[in-house]
Amino acid sequence: MNKPLILAGLLTLLAPAAWADGHAAFEENCASCHGADAEGIEGLAPPLHNAALWKTLGDHRQAYIAGVVTGGMSGTLQSKGSTYEGLVMPPLGYLDTATLVEITHYVLNDVNQMGDGPSAALITQYQASPPEHAALRKLRNGG
Ligand code: HEC
Repeated sequence: MNKPLILAGLLTLLAPAAWADGHAAFEENCASCHGADAEGIEGLAPPLHNAALWKTLGDHRQAYIAGVVTGGMSGTLQSKGSTYEGLVMPPLGYLDTATLVEITHYVLNDVNQMGDGPSAALITQYQASPPEHAALRKLRNGG
């Protein structure tokens, strides 16, 4: 009997429901702007279902999503062929750290199949001192 393999198999089976709380918290805190399916709302907020964006961000994706949720976002963004300008996302760093961890993992894992989201330690750090929007845009545009 290969226990690690069985465990890995069980974890795979459990994966789809792993961020169910994140899904519910997304519906509550993000969907009014980003859409219930995270596909964005033209003229209001860009899609978060955007594998190309998260792939381009690479190792910076945890810092980017943690930075945006805690500090908000502004400035012109190109996303999936549309331009989002003159829009401002309010900072949501007042939400529970655990809720922000759940939501960001839901977006990266469940919506985009991109692997791990930011740690609670990173979210806590950004809640205390969120990054500047200019720094986040720089990260988004490749550093
Ligand atoms: C009041 C509306 C609003 C809410 C609520 C909101 N957002 Fe946003 N979000 C925006 C807007 C507007 C932008 C684009 C800002 C810009 O154009 O610079 C944005 C941008 C983003 C981006 C960057 C997308 C990109 O293409 O780079 C992420 C990630 C994000 N939001 C995640 C979230 C998450 C997760 C939540 C819930 C915790 C959330 N947002 C809640 C309005 C909102």
